Amino acid sequence: MEYRNKLVLAPMVRVGTLPFRLLAAQYGADITYGEEIIDHKLLKCERRINDAIGSIDIVEKGTENVVFRTCDQERNQVVFQLGTSDAVRALTAAQLVCKDVAAIDINMGCPKAFSISGGMGAALLKKPDLIHDILTTLKRNLCIPVTCKIRLLNSTHDTVELARRIEKTMVSAVAVHGRRVVDRPRDPANWSEIANVVDALSIPVIANGDVFEHEDFQRIREVTGSSSVMVARGALWNASIFHPVGSPIEVVKREYVRKSILWDHDIKSTKYTLKEMIMHYTSLELPEGKAVTRAENLSDIALQVNFAILELKVYKIPELTNYWFLHFEYM
Ligand code: FNR
Repeated sequence: MEYRNKLVLAPMVRVGTLPFRLLAAQYGADITYGEEIIDHKLLKCERRINDAIGSIDIVEKGTENVVFRTCDQERNQVVFQLGTSDAVRALTAAQLVCKDVAAIDINMGCPKAFSISGGMGAALLKKPDLIHDILTTLKRNLCIPVTCKIRLLNSTHDTVELARRIEKTMVSAVAVHGRRVVDRPRDPANWSEIANVVDALSIPVIANGDVFEHEDFQRIREVTGSSSVMVARGALWNASIFHPVGSPIEVVKREYVRKSILWDHDIKSTKYTLKEMIMHYTSLELPEGKAVTRAENLSDIALQVNFAILELKVYKIPELTNYWFLHFEYM
């Protein structure tokens, strides 16, 4: 796994699942992070091969609840992001997935209460010894790259010091989200502070924050000096941001739905991601938005999003969770 000169899909809860990662990769993302999954959850899971659709599933034991789904196609580019506050737990969790993914990343930036109260996410930023413990434990025991994703600390000096400590753990790269923990998504990302980290380290730094169109990849590269760039919302709103020419959102939505169906994706996550795409451009109050909100299964969504342009064939495949597996053919 090479971390220089890469376009990176950021980790996004409820969004960064298999169909969306493959969508981003199709448009040119080199590295695709999965949504953050907490170690406690992973410890209750087992690995299963899903022959019906050709995926590898991490499933909650005794249930059919798929916590993480991946496939061979993305093996060399998918990064599994772990939420943790403990080195041993992190290692045990990582060992369950490490054969099927390209790298393991530790989330050190999530400001949400559930993360902080569990000592995870941004809470780690105040505990450099624990960061060291977690990263060195993973480095020593896993044979795939280990990285972490941080936010800016209160002063540039503190951010650089922390980044230097992280570098000493021999991680392969560090992603820096150019916002502080107290900042909201609407506050501008501070690219020049990312530049200070890039200057101080010799490992690759992945610059993250406020990349909303393809041209921004070059702009953030020039300001930060980082050759690799990570994008979250810009990709969520139109995953073709990774492509120099891009695609109309209607095409992107259709492709996302097609992939969701092919990979038997769960309806809740599909709806969430699709609604985010719709809301950015129009409104959930318009007919398309209302139909997606009402949808009870992937077939409802397929009919709505693809109605005019796709011929729909419906097959019944009992092994699949959704029971109805839809096969599309472009007209
Ligand atoms: C996020 N972000 C995030 N970060 C992380 O480390 N793990 C995660 O699981 C998530 N989940 C998540 C969900 C959604 C819907 C969004 C929009 C964001 C933060 C994200 O990776 C990124 O750091 C910020 O959004 C800043 O990048 P952009 O949006 O300015 O490109």
